Amino acid sequence: MKLLILNGPNLNLLGLREPEIYGSATYHDLLALIQSTAQTLGLEATVYQSNHEGDLIDQIQAARGVYDGIVFNPAAYTHTSVALLDALLAVRIPTVEVHLSDLSQREAFRQISYIRPACIATFTGLGIRGYQRGMEFLWRYLLRSGDCLLYT
Ligand code: DQA
Repeated sequence: MKLLILNGPNLNLLGLREPEIYGSATYHDLLALIQSTAQTLGLEATVYQSNHEGDLIDQIQAARGVYDGIVFNPAAYTHTSVALLDALLAVRIPTVEVHLSDLSQREAFRQISYIRPACIATFTGLGIRGYQRGMEFLWRYLLRSGDCLLYT
């Protein structure tokens, strides 16, 4: 099983960036958690971060036929990007939406997620553990659905 973990703008600054909102875990800590979760679940995880919307769209398009599932934190593009929604709808790869902070407790403009209609689940407010939960959810979903391209 192969998962793509996709991160949007400013998530590379995790640990430095508004730690009172996003936590003190660093981006490096996130990468380590993703790889240890992948090892525990017996799957392969590739992580990609970009500050550019078009890059994220290119990654989603290129994921077709390569990845079984996507764990996606589009960061600020969550609240603005119809193009990311369209890319997810086009490739139809099971996708889980993740946010570090609890969006329901934040500004009104963060209450809208354009990508949510294309996602099978959303984890918010769990810090970097949300990525772990997202990976576990996809793992279970893919095994159950038999939709996995590559699982052994
Ligand atoms: C975020 C929440 C977004 O509103 C914000 O723009 C981010 C991070 C989160 O993980 O909590 O950059 O997606």
